[in-house]
Amino acid sequence: MAKLWGGRFSKDTDKLVEDFHSSISFDQKLYKWDITGSKAHARMLGDIGVLTKEEAQQILAGLDEIMTEIEKGQVTFDPAAEDIHMNMEVLLTEKIGTVGKKLHTGRSRNDQVAVDVRMYLRHEIENTHHLLLELMKTVVDIAEEHKETILPGYTHLQRAQPVSFAHHMLAYAEMFKRDITRLEDCRVRMNVLPLGSGALAGTTFPLDREQVAEELGFDSVCLNSMDGVSDRDFILEYMAAASICSMHLSRMCEEIIIWSSQEFHFIDLDDGYSTGSSIMPQKKNPDVAELMRGKTGRVYGNLMGLLTTMKGLPLAYNKDMQEDKEPLFDTVETWQKCLLVLTPMLRTMTIRKDAMLQAAKGGFTNATDLADYLVRKGIPFRDAHAIVGKLVAECLDRGISLDEVSLEEYKAHNPLIEDDIYDAIAVYTCMANRNTIGGPSVAQTTATIAAEREFLAQRM
Ligand code: ARG
Repeated sequence: MAKLWGGRFSKDTDKLVEDFHSSISFDQKLYKWDITGSKAHARMLGDIGVLTKEEAQQILAGLDEIMTEIEKGQVTFDPAAEDIHMNMEVLLTEKIGTVGKKLHTGRSRNDQVAVDVRMYLRHEIENTHHLLLELMKTVVDIAEEHKETILPGYTHLQRAQPVSFAHHMLAYAEMFKRDITRLEDCRVRMNVLPLGSGALAGTTFPLDREQVAEELGFDSVCLNSMDGVSDRDFILEYMAAASICSMHLSRMCEEIIIWSSQEFHFIDLDDGYSTGSSIMPQKKNPDVAELMRGKTGRVYGNLMGLLTTMKGLPLAYNKDMQEDKEPLFDTVETWQKCLLVLTPMLRTMTIRKDAMLQAAKGGFTNATDLADYLVRKGIPFRDAHAIVGKLVAECLDRGISLDEVSLEEYKAHNPLIEDDIYDAIAVYTCMANRNTIGGPSVAQTTATIAAEREFLAQRM
């Protein structure tokens, strides 16, 4: 087919090149936003008199028809027309004749693609935001149920101090809250209209950019046409937000994998969210969590890929930037799928309170509390630490826990120890006494849950 830009060429594009530089196979995803942007542009051209009202009307009606036809699956895009933007112009001109050729007045594909992707991503931010809110709510709901479910908190994956399962879940609620607000921040910077930047230097037509911005729901118009066509920060910001969130999802999945192992057995995943082995009949594997952990790699890869694509580009538009779309679409899809599957996986998992409690009781998670007890009796913390360290070593030799040491034995280590020691080092007390803001006590988790619910209520 004749190229829309073919005037100064005397030879056809090589077939290999045609295939190499065509983006229609993936950027057709943008059709709806391309039409939406074109309609706002055409209407504005009609309003400022660059097109007659009738011409603008014909274009608007033609674009609406094309939208319907695409949605009905009646349109096949032509790779020879390169990308979604030129395919649209071809389709429009086929449909309404010469007037269709006027749509591109005062516009370039460079500002067109920039506005399309912003609208697409703004929409997907909303979808991602919604899925993240659902996930955070699920985590908070689980926390609500488990304010008194005790498990060991770990450092270095060694049992450290007792916490509640609510407290553990609320750590993720905080992460997801940051992920949610990161998306909100990203949207603010993204929502600036690039259309009107032209190829790079604006246009000689007196476009009403404010009108277009308003119609398309942008908060403002970009203030530099060269930046308008060459900025892909908004994509990178979304991908960075996706990467950080994927890291959170991956850490959570890692814990789910560990917790569902026979060694820990703190949780049982629902059969619907685990899979079996083709050879080992006994197996129930946490594949979903593993795959989600694995997908973090491609989300990071997409970010690193585009950062690398962008780093050496001179202003303004360069075709390299066509490489932004596939990684972006992949990131959107991957992130959303992960969120979509993680939420019900959490909702349906069984929490094995007894196993968690048993683990908290073993492993000397109350050792710090024993030292704190001695401190309250007037012993300097460092000395208390040494006394308890010795006690732990003896217990390890004898295969017993601190709760099983007799009062006489305690008194032999330090005469200030009384029989209130047993209550002081009971795991429940250890958790309940950690009542600083943000701590695991029931009072604190209750307050945090209220704060998280307030955050959610403002958004759901
Ligand atoms: N398909 C192109 C892209 O996605 C659209 C802009 C092309 N502009 C150009 N002058 N080649 O980046």
